[in-house]
Amino acid sequence: MKRILLNTEHAQVRSEECRVLRTQLAPEIARLMDARNHAYDTPYASIHLPFDISLHAQVKKAIATKKSLEPTMLIVVGIGGSNLGTMAVLQALYGRLYNEQQPDIKVYFADTIDTDYVEDILLLAEQELQKGNPILVNVITKSGTTTETIANFTIFCELLRSFFPRDYHKYIVVTTDKDSPLYACAQAQEILCLEVPKNVGGRYSVLSAVGLFPLGLIGVAIDDLLKGAQQMVQWCSHDNEDNSAARSAVIRYQLYKQGIAINDLFLFAVDLENVGKWYRQLMGESIGKELNVHGKKVEVGITPTVSLGTIDLHSVAQLYLGGPRDKLAVFVDVMQTRSHCYVPTQKECAVPAATIYGKSLSSILHATLTGVYLAYEKTNRPFMSLMIPEKSALYMGQLLQYMMIEMMYLGALLEVNPFDQPNVELYKQETRKILENE
Ligand code: PA5
Repeated sequence: MKRILLNTEHAQVRSEECRVLRTQLAPEIARLMDARNHAYDTPYASIHLPFDISLHAQVKKAIATKKSLEPTMLIVVGIGGSNLGTMAVLQALYGRLYNEQQPDIKVYFADTIDTDYVEDILLLAEQELQKGNPILVNVITKSGTTTETIANFTIFCELLRSFFPRDYHKYIVVTTDKDSPLYACAQAQEILCLEVPKNVGGRYSVLSAVGLFPLGLIGVAIDDLLKGAQQMVQWCSHDNEDNSAARSAVIRYQLYKQGIAINDLFLFAVDLENVGKWYRQLMGESIGKELNVHGKKVEVGITPTVSLGTIDLHSVAQLYLGGPRDKLAVFVDVMQTRSHCYVPTQKECAVPAATIYGKSLSSILHATLTGVYLAYEKTNRPFMSLMIPEKSALYMGQLLQYMMIEMMYLGALLEVNPFDQPNVELYKQETRKILENE
């Protein structure tokens, strides 16, 4: 069976160290395995999402209902775990230039509250409505209280009300926790509500209605996405060689103990940039913790950085190959691309790079990546690689699920809770207080 492959040959962690840590992780693997029997009733609730048939049916029904309105634009209002997963899958499957390629439904993400950015989206939405084309607003917030999301939602709601005073509610979908204030408010206005299961936190929610509704609406094969995730849950809930999430968690933890506190996800595919941003949040919020599970002050965490090949070879490679030895590079390589672009055989000018003429861009990219591997080896820098057969929904499901389970295992090794984010809550509360007093 084809699957994403993790190569840890150059991670520079001794197999004896891995073996010891693997024994340490065994009870956590058993807990995750057991959690599969308890649906959403454990902190590992998110691993149940790919198997929740009734949720999938509910999301598909919502997609069919809203597709019948024939929207030409979707505005996803949400931030952090509420939109990064959708951005990651959309870009991986449809590319960076999706909106420019005249899709049936364009997608815009209203996340931050930068007025110029939000105003630009608002104008585009208004132009669409003026042309007589319906737009859909999907507001996603688990808590239902995030300042940025509620501010942006209110703005887009007002726009919808001005075009559809009677039935604006038809053009909105609310995705939130059943107990959130937004859920009750949306229900009262007859707005279609999709639920985020209680124990599923934002950054683990991409395979809930949070990601499935917007992605399914624009035609992503969500069954394949879920199938890939199901496979990965299966592989990564057993204590054997197939469990790549446990393998990489052990390596990262060991390197962290040796002072390698930066994880650089080096993506050799432009379309995976948002996967990098999603992973950055997943790693940053899940294991960057002040206190451990025993309440002891530990201030641990691995700093996640994201680099894009070959672009960042021309910006940070010097630092990575010559600077401090505090980074683990994880190269992500896509085997099969959507297109095949060649450098013509006819030489453009008398440039001595004669070796490139007539070759495919993919082969040049892979030659570069191989060169990078050799440079890392020669400078004795640790790295791993993740091989993705192609950018399809199936492999994206595998990849995201692998990364989420890896973070759960890393949390266990570091003895921190990978599901909370107490220090983020701190700034949210402070902001609310300031706004209340203005
Ligand atoms: O992962 C998380 O829990 C956070 O990043 C949240 O997703 C983010 O803060 C947005 O919160 P909410 O979905 O409640 O608006």
